[in-house]
Amino acid sequence: MTTAPRDAALEARLKERLRGCCFGGSIHAFATCDSTMERAHALAGAGAGEGTLVFAARQTQGRGRLGRTWESPEGGAYFSLVLTPARAIAEIPQLSLIAGLAAAEALKELTGLSPAIRWPNDLLLNGRKVAGLLVEAKNSAVVLGVGINVTTNQNDLPDTATSLAACGAACDPYRLVAALCSKLDRWYDIWIAQGFAPIRAALRPWLSHMGGIVRVRAGSEQLEGTAHDVDERGRLLIRLDSGLLRPIDMGDVILLR
Ligand code: BTN
Repeated sequence: MTTAPRDAALEARLKERLRGCCFGGSIHAFATCDSTMERAHALAGAGAGEGTLVFAARQTQGRGRLGRTWESPEGGAYFSLVLTPARAIAEIPQLSLIAGLAAAEALKELTGLSPAIRWPNDLLLNGRKVAGLLVEAKNSAVVLGVGINVTTNQNDLPDTATSLAACGAACDPYRLVAALCSKLDRWYDIWIAQGFAPIRAALRPWLSHMGGIVRVRAGSEQLEGTAHDVDERGRLLIRLDSGLLRPIDMGDVILLR
């Protein structure tokens, strides 16, 4: 793990924006770090409390789901939150959709753009990925990671990705983190108190690919069908040619038509 020092100016900027939000009671910000996920897990292991926020203006080893790399050049908002949710372990993956909902609302509020949520963890603008969510559980702490391409130049991103600036909607990354945390604060409390049902209802208008023919890769399995809905447990429901509704726990979804 690299040991870049914390950046007090970044921490002060975030603290100012996050005033009144339950998350971010403790803030660790870095101009550069390996991965905010690593830092957050280390802090959680050392006893950091719920809502501890780790932010980086740039990451050298940003990671995504399934061992993928998350390109993290300057110009993005990269952060992780330590969470200790009082929900069953099987429900923890729902956090990715909860954070997706919060992120979609925050982006809409700050930029006027309406991103689509691609199950289970992507936010899309113009069909390209603008943000990704990552949930990792280790030793009873859960770390939620959020990466948003804010002012990143399109040339510094893969073809499948975009940034807010490339979509003509750059905004202050610190305000974005604060808006997202504030939306998440609300949905997280609702989830803890009432479970996934209210989230599922709020999520529906934001979901992409619904009614479309999709290919889903889940481990070694690949299947095609019509994306139907997200079920009461946060699983993707695919209608197969046979008419059967098949719930998917995890995987990647590609829209075919
Ligand atoms: C994905 O789309 O697969 C998830 C991407 C998650 C990226 C964020 S950036 C902040 C945090 N630190 C990381 O190394 N990853 C997450």
